[in-house]
Amino acid sequence: MRIDVVSIFPDYFAPLQLSLVGKAIEKGIVESHVHDLRRWTHDRHNTVDDTPYGGGAGMVMKPEPWGEALDTVEAAAPGPMTVIVPTPAGRPFTQTIAYELAAKPRLVFACGRYEGIDQRVLDHSHDTYDTHELSLGDYVLNGGEVAALAIIEAVVRLLPGVIGNPDSLREESHSQDNDALLEYPNYTKPPQWRGRAVPEVLLGGNHAVIAAWRRDEALRRTLARRPDLIVDPE
Ligand code: ADE
Repeated sequence: MRIDVVSIFPDYFAPLQLSLVGKAIEKGIVESHVHDLRRWTHDRHNTVDDTPYGGGAGMVMKPEPWGEALDTVEAAAPGPMTVIVPTPAGRPFTQTIAYELAAKPRLVFACGRYEGIDQRVLDHSHDTYDTHELSLGDYVLNGGEVAALAIIEAVVRLLPGVIGNPDSLREESHSQDNDALLEYPNYTKPPQWRGRAVPEVLLGGNHAVIAAWRRDEALRRTLARRPDLIVDPE
């Protein structure tokens, strides 16, 4: 998979070289290219924003640098590209979308700042490319960079060969193999710690009983914390 990122803060993406995503890049599973949007400005001050038409607070990112950025990134490699625009006004990003994105050959992250990007850039992108405006949650960050990092990590860990033991993907929270429930609680040694014991059932070695206990705990936890994830069949 090829990942391009366009941002006015390319330094935000240094962590891509670390940990699991860094290893995926080293192994050649992922190729990443981070671009400074100001490269596509043509004035002395490298201006990327301007005041909004109609008035109001804040600044809006100008369309011209974004148009050139998308044109250049598209021409840099063959194959259809999927454009992801992190924005609090987007569709909620979910594990299901992470699986969908993991199947794409090229992801391009367009990270906006200020009050957002001129709407015509988004309209153009929707008309030209497979484009997804995605929100990390119902809160506002200063820009799309942190959200792009989160989405990249969620997607790259699903690529074959990135996670050592693929079973861990099956058992975790939001996994389809786990009915998209929250994950059950986990314990390791020692069996007693500060007066707290590991649940007896996990020490017994009866796999069927352990599986049933874990499913109960996952259901109990999901009902308490995320009842919206338990779909009523009615
Ligand atoms: N940019 C600013 N806030 C955001 C959010 N909640 N999700 C995605 N991108 C954002």
